Amino acid sequence: MAVTVMVVNADPRSSADWKALLSDQGYDVIVARTGEAALSLCTSVRPDLVLLYDLLPDMHGLEVCRRLKADPRNRLTPVILHASAADRSDATSAVNAGAADFWGHAPSPWEALSRLHSLLHLQTYIDEQAESVLLSLTQSIEARDSFDGSHCARVSNNAVRFGKSLGLGRNDLEALRIGGLFHDIGKIGIPEAILSKAGPLDFEESKIMTEHPVVGEQICAPLKSLRHALPLIRHHHERLDGSGYPDGLHGDQIPLAVRALQIVDICDALTSDRSYRLNLPLPSALMVLYEEADRGWLDGELVSQFASLVVGSEGSIALGNRRGLGAPEMAKWGASNPARRLNRSGA
Ligand SMILES: [Fe+2]
Repeated sequence: MAVTVMVVNADPRSSADWKALLSDQGYDVIVARTGEAALSLCTSVRPDLVLLYDLLPDMHGLEVCRRLKADPRNRLTPVILHASAADRSDATSAVNAGAADFWGHAPSPWEALSRLHSLLHLQTYIDEQAESVLLSLTQSIEARDSFDGSHCARVSNNAVRFGKSLGLGRNDLEALRIGGLFHDIGKIGIPEAILSKAGPLDFEESKIMTEHPVVGEQICAPLKSLRHALPLIRHHHERLDGSGYPDGLHGDQIPLAVRALQIVDICDALTSDRSYRLNLPLPSALMVLYEEADRGWLDGELVSQFASLVVGSEGSIALGNRRGLGAPEMAKWGASNPARRLNRSGA
């Protein structure tokens, strides 16, 4: 993934010099001439680092820095505040505004690149550490959600395998890998009583449950390495007919990678034992997927392609936890009642 640096500088000549220097080092460079342009571009482009001059036509660089840092999506993005004429108090103000570094004089190209590289390396390290913390978090959620701790890993592996069979490109495959791992991380805020409830959720419980895609997106948004998977995390409960959540997207508004992930996720959930039902054998799980496609929820063409992939490949594809229950547990969960087995198919 190319590293993008945003230079916020009102001076066209100086901006051009920075662009030439940084591009020569392999960075993608975008330039903003005003504070408002920088705030807007940061939202759409999500640069990896911001080099921010203090004197801008519409607002001071400190104000831009404060506003950038107020957005959770930019909280981990390093900002260098470059002052035109500095004194010591400027450095303190820059740190208080959230800047990662303060340049009180014009650095030599070597010094500038060296400090910029250091910040980016530190950022990569923080991202990696944060990702590993979040991964542990997803495993603890799975344990509370009556999965066996491997659901997300299976969804991730199988989503990539499915994506490859669909001919998806490298970025989509990486998004599927990450999205599979982190799609349900937003469940961290859901009480265990709801996650492990044996039976249908009531209105209030469902409302709490439907918040998890947005919460998950908010948790993952500051991390660069998870950025491409944000649409999968936010939209994995959308339905083609618009009846899904959180945004009620229709048809092609739901990206292909999201539609693929949904099918893999639901199939793995159906073939796993849950607190509210037993696992289904693969043919029955595929029937549920076809039924959901007939209702207009899932992409029927993709369900067929997924079925072609997994049928006959069961030995090489891990699906569900399939731990199976003894007779007393079967009776407890009403295993002989198909309606009870299917009353919550969602993952
Ligand atoms: Fe979910």
